[in-house]
Amino acid sequence: MALKKGVPRIVVQGGNKLAGELDVQGAKNSILPLLSATVLCQGESVLHNCPNLTDADAACRILNCLGCRCAREAKSISVNSSELINTDVPAELMREMRSSIVFLGAILGRTRQCRLSFPGGCELGPRPIDLHIMALRKMGVDIKEEHGYLNCNAPGGIHGAYISLSIPSVGATENIILAAVTAKGTTEIHNAACEPEIVDLAAFLNKCGARISGAGTGTVAIEGVERLGGAEHKVIPDRIVAATYLCCAAITRGELMLKNADYNHISALVPVLEQMGCNIYTYNTTGEDTVYINAGKILRAPYKIRTSAHPGFPTDAQPMFMALASTLKGTTVFVETIFDNRFRHAQELGRLGAKISVDDRVAVVEGVERLTGADLEATDLRGGAALVTAALFAEGTSRICGIPHIDRGYDDIVGNLKKVGADIKNA
Ligand code: UD1
Repeated sequence: MALKKGVPRIVVQGGNKLAGELDVQGAKNSILPLLSATVLCQGESVLHNCPNLTDADAACRILNCLGCRCAREAKSISVNSSELINTDVPAELMREMRSSIVFLGAILGRTRQCRLSFPGGCELGPRPIDLHIMALRKMGVDIKEEHGYLNCNAPGGIHGAYISLSIPSVGATENIILAAVTAKGTTEIHNAACEPEIVDLAAFLNKCGARISGAGTGTVAIEGVERLGGAEHKVIPDRIVAATYLCCAAITRGELMLKNADYNHISALVPVLEQMGCNIYTYNTTGEDTVYINAGKILRAPYKIRTSAHPGFPTDAQPMFMALASTLKGTTVFVETIFDNRFRHAQELGRLGAKISVDDRVAVVEGVERLTGADLEATDLRGGAALVTAALFAEGTSRICGIPHIDRGYDDIVGNLKKVGADIKNA
């Protein structure tokens, strides 16, 4: 791959064993729906434990464009949504962040109208929003898809509905909850997503005066209320960032102590790491969990990893586990059941010497003893994290470009890995 001059890169000299302590940042996938939820609040909300991420900055720009007053101080973001002046999100802001579709339910819930550009596909293949649209229509919203825009109106108000999702979509569940909290009557979502981020969203909204029950299970009930006030809330730990650091510890055969984690949220990963031969446990003295991992010298392939909706193995952790599996004794089969096109990192891992063959949604990884440094390109967020993970093991120098993808979801991954012994820098 030809390296372009002046493009920011992460440069890694592989081979260092990681050791030490790291804090797990707040969850990106919680902050985005939480920030959009503040649109519903007629007052000020403060969200704590917000990492510095370009996706969070993009969400703040959308809030400011709507007329909310959004300000960051260190890891806290305050949003005053007393007065909204706008119900449209310009296409360029929508494009900055695919998950900006989560503003749809919140703006509609507050103003009964909204105009958004269609988010379109993304690096993980097509990301349809048919379930979001079907549900909102059932709740009385008239939605017209015109020239790449969604024009949404509910002049008669939004009403509760019985909604059964054919797929437990995280984004659709969030949008339905957001539109339902101030709707007339009760909404019931069946086959709802059970992800911890849904629980976090419901916890914040309930603090603001909403009446949501069942979040975290397959059936969520939302009893509409007249209005919401603001609230203070601490964002849950990022389980995918925790997964990334666990993989970084394991691939370097090192040991790490992850503070401010939530062990329950990563419980699907623990048996896989144990099967590989890692020693992993948790203790809780301060209210937050500390997760300890110690990777033995000889790590075995875990045979099969199949992604699925929570509480199954998260699709977002698959790329980093693939990097790790490429260095283990034996063969690992990955079956990706959530997204098409989620193995793009496999080709880049191949540049380091990983032996991976991909057929549609199945990847077969044959572990190798050595990886060697190479020039790599991150093409999506978690794929980028997988390249950083693999580069920690690879002999020699790896240079990774496509850093903006990684900055969407990691607050200073370079500084953090350096702190625990990696030879890594921004260049
Ligand atoms: C969220 C997460 C993402 C994670 C994913 C699955 C955020 C910002 N992103 O994405 O990191 O990988 O959950 O855990 O929280 N689908 C449809 N129609 C729809 C909606 C979804 O067919 O209307 C399909 C998708 O194409 C995909 C599957 O359902 O195959 C799951 O998608 P979904 O749960 O909606 O993921 P996101 O909310 O986009």
